[in-house]
Amino acid sequence: MSTITQQLSTRHLLGIKDLTTEDIRLIFHTATNFKEVINRPIKKVPSLRDVTIANLFFENSTRTRISFELAEKRLSADVVNFSASSSSVKKGETLLDTVNNILSMKVDMVVMRHPAPGACKFLAGHIEANIINAGDGTHEHPTQALLDAYSMEEKLGNLEGKHIAILGDILHSRVALSNIFCLQKLGAKVRVCGPPTLIPKHIEKLGVEVDYDVRKTMAWCDAANILRIQLERQNTRYFPSLREYSQYFGVNRELLDSLDRPILLLHPGPINRGVEITSEVADSENAIILQQVENGVAIRMAVLYLLAAEGRNP
Ligand code: CP
Repeated sequence: MSTITQQLSTRHLLGIKDLTTEDIRLIFHTATNFKEVINRPIKKVPSLRDVTIANLFFENSTRTRISFELAEKRLSADVVNFSASSSSVKKGETLLDTVNNILSMKVDMVVMRHPAPGACKFLAGHIEANIINAGDGTHEHPTQALLDAYSMEEKLGNLEGKHIAILGDILHSRVALSNIFCLQKLGAKVRVCGPPTLIPKHIEKLGVEVDYDVRKTMAWCDAANILRIQLERQNTRYFPSLREYSQYFGVNRELLDSLDRPILLLHPGPINRGVEITSEVADSENAIILQQVENGVAIRMAVLYLLAAEGRNP
């Protein structure tokens, strides 16, 4: 059992790979305190008063963008939102020019989603503000993995030794990679499962098991994180049809009923209902999809609060 440290080992959150287990435990501990705050009638605390945060979204988002904005407002930060589709990026402005212009308006922290893997790391090498990766291409989505693992622990207890499956389109998923790093740092055994064409070559070198049989994997695991088929990132056909994908790799009631015990189901969203998961299962008592979203606000409050505190330390 790791002890709770007082501060993070990093001034940016670029990926779970850079966090220590103590960092993750500190974020969870802080998130639990903030979860209590956001369930009060008055949901706001003054922790980040006088801190200005820019949310820079160069790619579409519903959950992550709203969750960060709510987290920032609950902490009393000043918030500016930027969406690439309605910005001067459309006129050819570079990422660095865009960000430097925003920072010259005295911004302290940047939350960024970008389609290019490594975009947040690139920025961290060029600017002073704390940076939080809200998803960089197919690389990492650290706050999603933190909220997933936190939600699993709420239901299953400590994840040490627990069997966690990640199902579906692993190849195009930043959630998969961040989940693998996070779950392993918490001591879980991780297995990825999906069609061979959607499992990256050599992924077992990360210390995960690989299986192509969903039924067998579901019988093995305590919890399954079911990933979306990312059609927008696929420039070739990885399986014959969505109907066949659903038939062989989709999670449905019949599959759950065939197991000898109930398992926990997660999905980071957005859901392709009827493809990787049926509507019946997504809305069932096994699934904690909306609890993940609720926990996302508390986790993001914790990350923002801890990184801002780090920035204020000498
Ligand atoms: N889970 C997730 O990242 O969802 P959004 O793309 O809607 O932010």
